[in-house]
Amino acid sequence: MDGAGRTGKMKQDELILAIETSCDETSAAVVRGGVEVLSNVISSQIETHKQFGGVVPEIASRKHVESITLIMEEAVRKAGITLQQIDAVAVTQGPGLVGALLVGIVAAKGLAMALGVPLIGTHHIAGHIYANKLVHTMVYPSVALVVSGGHTELVVMEREGEFKIIGRTRDDAVGEAYDKVARSLQFPYPGGPHVDKLAQSAAESLPLPRAWLEPESYDFSFSGLKSAVLAAINQAKMKGQPLDPAMLARGFQESVIEVLVEKAMRAVHAYGAQQLLLCGGVAANGGLRAALQQRCDKEQVPLLIPPLGLCTDNAAMIAAAAHLKWASGQHSELDLKADPGLSLEAWSLSAHTSASVS
Ligand code: KG4
Ligand code: ZN
Repeated sequence: MDGAGRTGKMKQDELILAIETSCDETSAAVVRGGVEVLSNVISSQIETHKQFGGVVPEIASRKHVESITLIMEEAVRKAGITLQQIDAVAVTQGPGLVGALLVGIVAAKGLAMALGVPLIGTHHIAGHIYANKLVHTMVYPSVALVVSGGHTELVVMEREGEFKIIGRTRDDAVGEAYDKVARSLQFPYPGGPHVDKLAQSAAESLPLPRAWLEPESYDFSFSGLKSAVLAAINQAKMKGQPLDPAMLARGFQESVIEVLVEKAMRAVHAYGAQQLLLCGGVAANGGLRAALQQRCDKEQVPLLIPPLGLCTDNAAMIAAAAHLKWASGQHSELDLKADPGLSLEAWSLSAHTSASVS
């Protein structure tokens, strides 16, 4: 791939059409130069999965199949471009639900082949992190706290596109814990926003444990906390005692937030980070945003958080991450496979093997 690309545009002005189908959102976006969002169309399947209390993989795949073509067409139409102007097609390769990923990958391959443009397999978490670049200037070294329904990770980036995971959850992801606690409080899926709202309405909190793990560890664990919440509910039921759900929600939220904030700030100082990035669906949590902002202000650490619409799954963030690969001339082969366990570190720019560089 040369500097000016097939349309004669400079590398940094390219139009990437990106597709995201890793879980329960079908999304397509057109982004110019990795930062200018021309369209970002998102079709949520939440209403369908709600009745089952969580995402049903087979239904997710079927729904993606039903809507992917329309969503892609709408993304192109809203961007005000023609298909022929697209310079590359990016798609989430993993992690995610294999059947769901496959739908996006097949659509992306078809389009890339038809247009004769490069295909860029993209890491979902790199997308969440680089959602920040759509609205902020990113500098390095930086630390990203990734909090979503499937992930809880602390990632150090010494340079652009270089990812090192220093901590991860040993059991439930934070969003998953939120959803399970919400379910026990009778909230519909996804319950995170309900617990957040309820917690903010409480005057007091129920004391619950914090899982710090070993003193030096950046890892997380939320299953013990989730069990403590369920035990409190069951005990109250058995004893016939009233239990204030708002106090419980606040106790849960405070425990989660304290551990996330402490470990993130420790990582920032240990790695000399110039910025802390918060990303993933749980970055929409009001309590977490406020607590991190307070600590960052106090310790003079710039905190970047994408706007709400870019925190949850969307294709614009996939284009933002794919742009890094585009700008360094890296793209995928047309036999790209869905990889539910795709490694973030292996997706780093420096880890790219010359065999797949065009
Ligand atoms: O990143 P995302 O859209 O999908 C994944 O890649 O997992 O994250 C979805 C997760 C769900 O677990 C949802 O409950 C949680 O983000 N979430 C929240 C809030 N908004 C969304 N959790 C806590 N507080 C919120 N306000
Ligand atoms: Zn996500």
